[in-house]
Amino acid sequence: MSEFVHESVLAREVVEILRPGAGGLLVDCTLGGGGHALLLLERGARVIGLDKDPRALAAARARLARFGEAFRAVRADFRDAKETLAALGIGPVDGALADLGVSSPQLDEAERGFSFSRPGPLDMRMGGEGETLGDLLRRIDERELARVLKEYGEESFARPIARAVKRAVERGEVKDTAALAQVIAAAIPRRAWPRKIHPATRTFQALRIAVNDELGALAAWLDGLPALLAPGGRAAVISFHSLEDRMVKEKFRALTQVCTCPPDLPVCACGRKPAFAPVTRKAVVASEAEVSANPRARSAKLRAVEKLR
Ligand SMILES: C[S@@+](CC[C@H](N)C(=O)[O-])C[C@H]1O[C@@H](n2cnc3c(N)ncnc32)[C@H](O)[C@@H]1O
Repeated sequence: MSEFVHESVLAREVVEILRPGAGGLLVDCTLGGGGHALLLLERGARVIGLDKDPRALAAARARLARFGEAFRAVRADFRDAKETLAALGIGPVDGALADLGVSSPQLDEAERGFSFSRPGPLDMRMGGEGETLGDLLRRIDERELARVLKEYGEESFARPIARAVKRAVERGEVKDTAALAQVIAAAIPRRAWPRKIHPATRTFQALRIAVNDELGALAAWLDGLPALLAPGGRAAVISFHSLEDRMVKEKFRALTQVCTCPPDLPVCACGRKPAFAPVTRKAVVASEAEVSANPRARSAKLRAVEKLR
């Protein structure tokens, strides 16, 4: 296995928000290479790390072995975080982190099927289970594919790309990710090719989100937060995509909303006392220094809430 190198994003900010301390139990729901978990453990917290990627788990276990019983890595989908902890005999925790999306090694290893520049299998599964990219491309129709590309990839040429991809798949012309990238690039007029990124970037992002049901997993995780956290516990989410950030923002707004009365009511009649308080008023973004050292941090947005009771 090649070395697992992933630069953690907004690391200092995550530590400040989650306030790891002696005795506290935190769940890192997207363990990856264990970068964030390392910082939390170094400050004395106990950490349960979840990831559905066995390679990430192996890398994090090796890196964090010196923390002994303070660290545990478990293969799980974070949509089932609460059930996974319950099966280990663990109740509500003092903090939860979700650093969404893929890790650098997942993107860089061509054999995982995320690469448009090097040929790899039509896979894109982070956890190696469920429907592959190849299965998905055969199953969904052109209309649904165009919707996925438009919605998850914000791709302006979603329809011509969907048409070209479906045709090429049906003719058996898409043998690997590089061939797929060529079909996508050819479906976009040359003058409209983005200058800084590969023309297939947005489509590949959309397909990755669909293959891994990333938005479904996030929605389930957000819904489970009240049961996952102990009173005083905090949840922090780093998202890299506007759809994800919107979901987080809206859920956090609903959890922390004080009054649900109609705006034209002169005084509050609902008397609602929210169970959560905001920790971040606005999304926290990476500093210029971090972005220049790690360009992946450019689109990162960190939001957090605290459970009150
Ligand atoms: C951005 S990386 C995390 C990097 C990590 N915070 C670090 O500092 O090294 C995201 C990780 O989340 C995992 N992941 C994504 N969706 C998941 C899900 N629904 N359940 C479990 N793990 C997931 C991926 O396999 C990947 O390893």
